[in-house]
Amino acid sequence: MIPTPVPPALPGRPVSFDAALRDAMAIAVLGPSSHNCQPWGLAHLTSPGARRAAADHLGRAEDGDSTYLVLALDRERSLAALPAHDLEMLLSCGAYWRLLLRALGAQGWTVAADRYPDHPLRPVSALGDAWPSAWSPLAVVQLRCHGIPDPDGLAELRSTATDRRTNRAPYRMDPEDPELLRGLAELEGFTNTGTAIRHFTGAHERARFVRLLARHGGRDFSHAAAWRETHSFVRRDEAAARAAGDGFALSQLFGPMSASRRRLFSLALAPATMRALRPLGYHRVFARGIAAVAGKAPAVVAMSLPEQAPGGASLVRAGGDLVDYWLRATRAGLAVHPLSVLLQHDDLRRALQSSLGLDGRTVFVARLGRPTTGFPAAPRLHPGRAGRRI
Ligand SMILES: Cc1cc2nc3c(=O)[nH]c(=O)nc-3n(C[C@H](O)[C@H](O)[C@H](O)COP(=O)(O)O)c2cc1C
Repeated sequence: MIPTPVPPALPGRPVSFDAALRDAMAIAVLGPSSHNCQPWGLAHLTSPGARRAAADHLGRAEDGDSTYLVLALDRERSLAALPAHDLEMLLSCGAYWRLLLRALGAQGWTVAADRYPDHPLRPVSALGDAWPSAWSPLAVVQLRCHGIPDPDGLAELRSTATDRRTNRAPYRMDPEDPELLRGLAELEGFTNTGTAIRHFTGAHERARFVRLLARHGGRDFSHAAAWRETHSFVRRDEAAARAAGDGFALSQLFGPMSASRRRLFSLALAPATMRALRPLGYHRVFARGIAAVAGKAPAVVAMSLPEQAPGGASLVRAGGDLVDYWLRATRAGLAVHPLSVLLQHDDLRRALQSSLGLDGRTVFVARLGRPTTGFPAAPRLHPGRAGRRI
């Protein structure tokens, strides 16, 4: 579904749902996703059968004044090489969903009821034949046009979502204001009960994090399936990344580079090179590189959930909390660089949690700081690509 252009609403007047949805999808697509794979799907339920199925699922009578949306995981776009990718996909979908709901809320379309089942909604067949077979429903929401549009809030959300990006450059080492960090860790609105955000600014804690990365950060490079999948998202240059609409250009991973350096990196990162040189400890070179970058930041941030094995509902909501955090950091002039390798393997995750004293299940870890240089934006697929009218 590529929403058709609709004239902008006058300030203070509710906009039609189609116009609001078009704007919201354009903002939500700017959310972060692992490898920039953009694994979300969004169904706008318009057929009587699908609307009834959603209302039943919410335990309410269908309401003619309401609109129903379903967030889905698109398995055709999902990473699958490691079991931990399931968690990353749900976080990514949750980030998309939170941005979408915030953007709809700012246009007056507020949540009347929602449900986040731990297991995909069953039966999917109740949503009709048009439901894509590769989509697993993750959340359903009933929206009503009750709120007062907030054009300034919408503009602010759009601008911060555009400015937010993964900046992999070195960060300035000046210590961050503890008050600012405390404010960033406070969750607001919509949140997942139990999401805990912790910052680590002490030299010893940061050194422990860097040491773990130096020792184990090469794990994904030496894992043939994981590296093949990651490499399938690496694009030669920004033009190739824009044409693909997903993944990342070499310059988004390593910063701006000359054509000859680009050729060298392409060769160095090829799965065949990894395979051939692995017995010589080639992956350790990358671990040292990751550790060196990780050390160039005044803070590490970790997000954890109370349960050891959080269900889908918690993870989708936690993805929302993650993007809220990231937007607040962006507004404060801070950049976030996730370093997920230590969370992608259970033994490494346990080592990280015990070394930093993190309880529950840590689902996200990143370095945080003020970058020394800007980084190009990663590409996006057309915002309408993820949508279906069902
Ligand atoms: C759950 C999750 C895990 C991520 N892990 C990493 C990571 O380990 N290393 C990294 O460089 N970027 C990581 N990212 C950042 C994504 O690569 C990034 O969001 C995506 O390429 C889009 O780019 P943008 O954030 O600049 O818009 C992660 C993002 C998410 C949502």
